[in-house]
Amino acid sequence: MTDQKPYLTGHYTPVVDEVTATGLTVEGALPPELSGRLVRNSHNPKPGVTPTHWFKGSGMVHGLRLRDGRAEWYRNRWVRTPALDGAPYLTEHGPDLTASAAGTHVIEHGGRLLALCEANLPFELTPELETVGAYDFGGTLRTAMTAHPKADPVSGELHFFGSSPVPPFLTYHVADAKGRIVHSAEVPGASASLKHDFAITRGHVVFVEGSVTFDPAEHSGIPYGWKDEQAARIGVMPRGADGARAIRWFSVEPGNMLHVSNAYEDSRGRIVLEGPTVDREGFALSWNWWTGRPGRGSEPVSRSYTRRWVVDPVAGTVDERIVDDLPVEFPTLNEEYLGADNRYQYAVSFPDEAGHGGYGVVKYDRVTGARRIRRVGDARMPSEALFVPAADAGAEDDGYLLTVVTDLKQDASQLLVLDASGLDRVATVHLPHRVSAGLHGSWIPDEGRGIGRG
Ligand SMILES: [Fe+2]
Repeated sequence: MTDQKPYLTGHYTPVVDEVTATGLTVEGALPPELSGRLVRNSHNPKPGVTPTHWFKGSGMVHGLRLRDGRAEWYRNRWVRTPALDGAPYLTEHGPDLTASAAGTHVIEHGGRLLALCEANLPFELTPELETVGAYDFGGTLRTAMTAHPKADPVSGELHFFGSSPVPPFLTYHVADAKGRIVHSAEVPGASASLKHDFAITRGHVVFVEGSVTFDPAEHSGIPYGWKDEQAARIGVMPRGADGARAIRWFSVEPGNMLHVSNAYEDSRGRIVLEGPTVDREGFALSWNWWTGRPGRGSEPVSRSYTRRWVVDPVAGTVDERIVDDLPVEFPTLNEEYLGADNRYQYAVSFPDEAGHGGYGVVKYDRVTGARRIRRVGDARMPSEALFVPAADAGAEDDGYLLTVVTDLKQDASQLLVLDASGLDRVATVHLPHRVSAGLHGSWIPDEGRGIGRG
């Protein structure tokens, strides 16, 4: 029953073809200031291919071009890596960093559009989403690259890391605004713990090692598993050339965090870090889904609750607590506030394991504690909601949320544009076919660091 893998069914059913469509139908008034391209990646194996793990499915990138109140084009393309044609990651010479699913994220930096998967090199795409090839920053990147690099809104630098199950376990990199790697350093004290995401603040880099670590006995194709003996820790190091030497590791409660919501220094110099986190059972339920194994786990995200850590470097202590009872993932924010104390946070909610709750776009006000949920309709599921600031934005939440909705009843998808202030619908763009539910993407505005005007 290989066709019953959960990541090949329902909202996640792979798209079977590549299309290009122009002049898309728009309902409502698409704000003219939304001029740019939305790109979104997801694991989307070719027809007839059944990956042994959700994350082994080859990446397909979807692009939508908006300009002057119109939706000019949509196109979708597989990322053409050796893995798309079946090349193995592990070879007799070691890992092939070009054998990438390239299905986790897609970003733009330094004029290059890059599809990312954390065990591999990035794959460069053209503005029309055709694959250029593996990209190693002109020969200067010799590790894998996380799928969650952080663009510093102040400097324009791109901070990222490469992790590995064998030494060096963790290497930190900084690329300047033009995309040249200007700093690389091995991070002392790291382990083989799974590191999917990390954080930067204005003054620090924050790494998170949870309870999930390298497990060669795991044969799903992703050799990681929960181990109680794996110490969960947060690593805090100053930014700057000599920062890695000064890293300090702080013990925290067992858990696993996939995504950071944000991190910053508070007025007392403490590091505040937030992100949805699972416990042992939540990880097991999620892993069952990710691998299509029998057993409970009806969603790719189970028991994923937002946790807040407050690290006091002076006292050497960490205060941590769960701050919300809603299962969420895909945290986003106004990225001008990345690394700073943000008031507003966004996420996608999932039904809990009993089926309570449901899919929705969630907005948190971290000052008042208010939580607002925007449902998108029966049998419909939103994806990661990207914040795009309004022209001449004043308030932090003065802007739009862009989310691609998958509709099972109509076998269709739309881009839903919400007003980020009240979560009201501003416009809907009808896409020419269903877009499989998936992972991460980026809004690439025409102004500033945009990469062309396709
Ligand atoms: Fe991710």
